[in-house]
This record gives sequence, structure tokens and C-alpha cells, in this order.
Amino acid sequence: MIFAGIVAGGSGTRMKNAAMPKQFIRVLDKPIIIYTIEKFAEQRHIDEIYIGIKPDWHAVMDQLLEEYGIDRSRVKVIDGGSDRNRTVMNIVDAIKAAHEIKKGDIIITHDAVRPFLTDTMIEENIIGALKYSACGTYLKCVDTVVSSQNGETIDSSLDRSTLYRAQTPQSFDITLLDKYYNELDETKKARLTDTCSIFTESGHKIHIVEGDTVNIKITTDSDLIIAKLLATRV
Ligand code: CTP
Repeated sequence: MIFAGIVAGGSGTRMKNAAMPKQFIRVLDKPIIIYTIEKFAEQRHIDEIYIGIKPDWHAVMDQLLEEYGIDRSRVKVIDGGSDRNRTVMNIVDAIKAAHEIKKGDIIITHDAVRPFLTDTMIEENIIGALKYSACGTYLKCVDTVVSSQNGETIDSSLDRSTLYRAQTPQSFDITLLDKYYNELDETKKARLTDTCSIFTESGHKIHIVEGDTVNIKITTDSDLIIAKLLATRV
């Protein structure tokens, strides 16, 4: 089976002027999370869509699904966790509780706050996860990236030709994701913020799916200005 896992359990602390977690902010009168859910709901080959949210946002989420006419038969809303990977793993646990998961069943994980992902990204993530058991969406680095230990002077600039920026979706064989995560000790679980690193930590390579500059992560107040422009274009 093919599952989508939309992670929406964050607080959005870097967005200073928001009255609510950023995934619920309206961009052109539609909440960011609804753009994201609609993208997955349009894909007929996704069997179920799980959404991990903060426990006190269930009533709002239910009301929004109703308001925007999202077909609830394929959508499950569950509690997120204390960090992003724990939200992903809560979704995995909920999938395991509802289904007999076998090798080859995959999950496409995605940030609720990246509403402008493309159909091609979803399709290539499905192909990548089925073929390689783990894939992520990456964008070649166009800027020069430098490193600084003290934050005052630059130590070195990195070789741009080998650098990529990580986006989501990130997609995995569910059995392997569950196994690798549960093999980590608590320190590593807390340190590894990116779900793909759970695989690289276990020596498993991640297949690259090509990202897109429109697939922005809405993080700060200024990202909302860009999101409005992108939503107008959609
Ligand atoms: N996320 C989650 N569960 C958490 C933390 C984050 O599902 N415990 C989700 C966010 O809701 C978001 C995605 O992970 O869709 C990417 O995280 P980020 O942009 O860092 O979101 P926040 O944690 O909400 O933002 P901030 O770090 O500014 O507080």
C-alpha cells in the first residue's frame, strides 16, 4: 500500500507575527495545510493520508476538512509527537495499528508547510521509494556555502558541486523506517532531525528526487509574502 504522512505537529516559533501554528494560517483565504492535503488527495494511487497535528488542534482540523470538502474516507488525523521525527513515527505507528504492513508498503512523508510541492515530486517519490526503499527531494545548491566555527569569520567555502538542499517529500519502505528508527538510542533519536538521516545512519543510501524552488518551506513571516505570490500562480 502507499501512504502519505503529512507532518503538521509543529508550533512555528520562527514565525514571529502569527497567532496560530503557521500551517493553519490562511494564504489567499485557504489554510496552508489545506493546499498540502489537496495535493495528496488528488493522487488516486495514494491509499490513505495520515496527518499528525498538535493534540489541541483536532477540532480546527476537522472543521477545515469539512469546510474544504476533503474526502474523509482516505484521511486520518492523529496526534503528532514532540519533534518532527516523532510525528513521522506516530504516523507509522497509527498505520501499523490499522494495517498488516509488509515489505514494499511505503510512506511519502511531507511537511504541511510546503504547500507548493508538485505532482511530479509525489510520483517520483513513489517510484523512488518502491525501487530504492528510501528517497528524498533535493535541490542542487546554487549559492556558495561557507562554514564558520565562531560566527565572526569564515573558515572555508564548501565545494558547491557536491551540495544539495533537502526538501520534502521524503519517502520510505515502512518496515525499514520502523526498524532503523527503533534501532537508534535516545540520544541519536533526539539528534537526527531529518528522517532521511535515520536511513543514512544505518548505512542505507537515499535516492535523489529532483526538487523545485517553488517547493518552499514556509518558516518565517517573509515566507508568507512569497507564498501569496506562489498561491496566485497555482
Ligand atoms: N513538525 C511536526 N511535529 C513537530 C515539529 C514539527 O510535525 N513536533 C512539522 C511542522 O508542523 C512542519 C514540519 O514539521 O510542517 C517542518 O518543521 P518546521 O518548519 O521546523 O516547523 P515548526 O517546528 O512548526 O517551526 P519552528 O521550528 O519555527 O518552531
